[in-house]
Amino acid sequence: MVEAQMKELDWNDAITLASPYAYALGVTLSPDGKPNIIGLGWWSFCSWDPPMLTIAVAPPRHSHDCLEHLGEFTLCFPAEDQAEGAWLCGKMSGRDVDKFEETGFEAVPSKEVKPPLISGCTVAFECRVVNSVEAGDHTIYIADVLAQHATPGKEHHIYTVHYRKMLSLGSDGYANFEL
Ligand SMILES: Cc1cc2nc3c(=O)[nH]c(=O)nc-3n(C[C@H](O)[C@H](O)[C@H](O)COP(=O)(O)O)c2cc1C
Repeated sequence: MVEAQMKELDWNDAITLASPYAYALGVTLSPDGKPNIIGLGWWSFCSWDPPMLTIAVAPPRHSHDCLEHLGEFTLCFPAEDQAEGAWLCGKMSGRDVDKFEETGFEAVPSKEVKPPLISGCTVAFECRVVNSVEAGDHTIYIADVLAQHATPGKEHHIYTVHYRKMLSLGSDGYANFEL
């Protein structure tokens, strides 16, 4: 079989083709002590031992202000039954709405950091920022993972195709829904 030749394409189409991306919710605390949630596609594990991960947050986001104020966050992976609220967290700013109120998500206390966890997520990590790097139009926050939690029985989390479409996939690799 003759393979088609590779061709160059624009950045936007390449982002679509590299999909899907695991969609996570970053919970921070604002200077007045209010928890806020941001939808994040740009996160990555970056160290096995010690456990560390990174998130990339754009300076205009309310979450950026929160992280500059308190370098702690939780990274929570929404389960498929949390899809609607999770999507809202990627569309609205904590400057305008209280996203816990708006989504009905329940905040539960973390063990090691001040920002809470979101109840019912498949898995969640408690993180403390140890460094940050300016990278183009985002700031990369590099963090130690201090604890991790899961909701037994919940395995299907949410993935996005570019930043337009959502689907849920389990660790078994099967998709459950597409929005
Ligand atoms: C699928 C998806 C992925 C996103 N990924 C990121 C990301 O990795 N970094 C970022 O700064 N914003 C990302 N956003 C945009 C923010 O979630 C959005 O601007 C949000 O309203 C910011 O909330 P805040 O102002 O309360 O921090 C994403 C949005 C969506 C829908």
